[in-house]
Order: sequence, then C-alpha cells, then structure tokens
Amino acid sequence: MSAVVLNGKLVADQIHAETRERISLLSANGVVPGLVFVRVGEDPASRAYVEMKEKKAKELGISSRTIVLKNSTSERDLISLLATLNEDASVHGILVQAPLPRHICEQRVFASVDPSKDVDGFHPENMGKLLLGDACGFRPCTPAGIVELLVRCGVPIQGADVVILGRGNIVGKPLAAMLCQKSKEADATVTLVHSRSRGVPEHCRRADILVAAMGQAEFVRADMVRPGATVVDVGVNRVEDQSCPRGYRLVGDVCQEEVRTVAGAITPNPGGVGPMTIAMLMANTIKAAENSVASGRL
Ligand code: GUN
Repeated sequence: MSAVVLNGKLVADQIHAETRERISLLSANGVVPGLVFVRVGEDPASRAYVEMKEKKAKELGISSRTIVLKNSTSERDLISLLATLNEDASVHGILVQAPLPRHICEQRVFASVDPSKDVDGFHPENMGKLLLGDACGFRPCTPAGIVELLVRCGVPIQGADVVILGRGNIVGKPLAAMLCQKSKEADATVTLVHSRSRGVPEHCRRADILVAAMGQAEFVRADMVRPGATVVDVGVNRVEDQSCPRGYRLVGDVCQEEVRTVAGAITPNPGGVGPMTIAMLMANTIKAAENSVASGRL
C-alpha cells in the first residue's frame, strides 16, 4: 500500500485564490493590506522562511517589507520598534520571526505586538482566545494550516485519536487546543506526547492522525504507525550529507520512505505543511486588514 499524498501546495494555492479575491475587495475600498516581517540576526533557516513568506505576500498584492536587526539588538529596542509598527495604520500585520537571540525573551516580544496585528497568533490574548474557542482571534499559522489541510482533504477529525509529538508553543500546544474544541472541524481525542512521555511508540500506534512536530530528523518510523493512519510531517531538520552541494539535506520528522508504505495518507515534506503555514499567514493578514476597515481604524 502507498499512502495518499496530502498535497499542501495544491490546497495552499486554493486558499491563495480565495485570499486574492478578498484583497480585490479591500483594494476596491482603497485599502492595501500591509505586512511587516521583523528578523533579528542572520539565522539561515529564518532568513529563508522570511524570504519565502515575503515573496508570496508580494505575489498576492500585499504590501510587505522585512526589517532586519542585528543579532546584538536589545530587547528594549526591538519592543520599541514594535510600538512604532503598532501605531502605523498602514501596517495590518506584524510577524517577528522566531527563534530570537537568547538574550531576548520571546514571550515578552510576542506580547508587545498589538493583538489586532498579531497575524502569527502568538500574543497571549490570541492564544487565550484559541483555548477558549473564540474564533475572533488569530490562530497560529502552522497548526491552523494543518487543520485546514486535513479538513479540505476530507480526513475525518471528529472523534479521531490524534497524537501530537512535540509540545512547543508554535505547533504542538496550539494544535492540541484547536483539535480538542467542540466543533465539527475538531472534536478529536488529543494526546500530546513529549520528551518525558513514557511509551512513545505505543502512543503513536494508537493514532488515527499522527502529527510529528518535535524537530527530530526522521523520528517516526514505519513500525510506529498504525496501518491506514494519517501522518502529518511538520519538522524541517538539516542532516549532514557531503554528497549534497550545500553539505546538508533537509528531512522531516517522519521517515517518509518507510512510513508511506504503512500510512493511509501522509503530508509530503517539502510541499505539505510548509505551504499551508504561508497560506494561513496571508489569510490572517487579510483578516487583520478587513477587521481594521470594519472597526473604522482606516
Ligand atoms: N519560526 C518557526 N515557525 C514560525 C512561525 O510560524 N512564526 C514565527 N514568527 N516564527 C516561526
């Protein structure tokens, strides 16, 4: 058996088409959505991610720019930049790329973005709304993209046993909060597995939907997957490989070659969760711009 491929690129393109229509409506009202990325330091992966997001924003007609700060930038200077962006009416969305240098507290920085411009969904107010099931807030893009991909591909979630590997603030925790809500697109039984969990392979084998988001190269092997299960591969890991031009290759948290022979459905990597994350970021930015029009802030 070979798993059905959950093509995130294809689904993301459908969402982008819907986003384009919303952008046309905004522009008919004289509003150009604005998105600002803030990157601190020169982490190569962060650079690549921000470039991809900014490129897509521009393609869609979102006015976007990236502010790059030195690695030595103080937390206070970063927060003061955010205060300026919060006040700028042409900026509807702000994204501070993580990880930040170690001398900067990520939580304080995320809490300094105006919640109405927090298209990343990391502000405590938006995280709180997510936990409470309040759809008015912004949902973090990667977990929102995973749910959207499952729903649009017709993977049943209601009543499913979902096992999430990894309890990070960016994916694991918010995804657990989304999938346990009382809702047709959720209603799952969620298990959050982490580095101190016992019996990890046993947990995995129980899953109808297994989400690997713990950042360990090819951690999920065929014998950890129940035949026919849906597997979502979130991680992007560099593994040394001198036969590659850059001296490394990128692999997910799932051993794709093995798991494809057992799973019923699987997200490819690349081309699965990554494009969905970007699609949700663009959709959140448009929602922020629409909200600002509705609230008369523009
Ligand atoms: N680093 C990894 N994923 C993300 C994300 O979704 N948003 C931000 N801001 N940083 C990230």
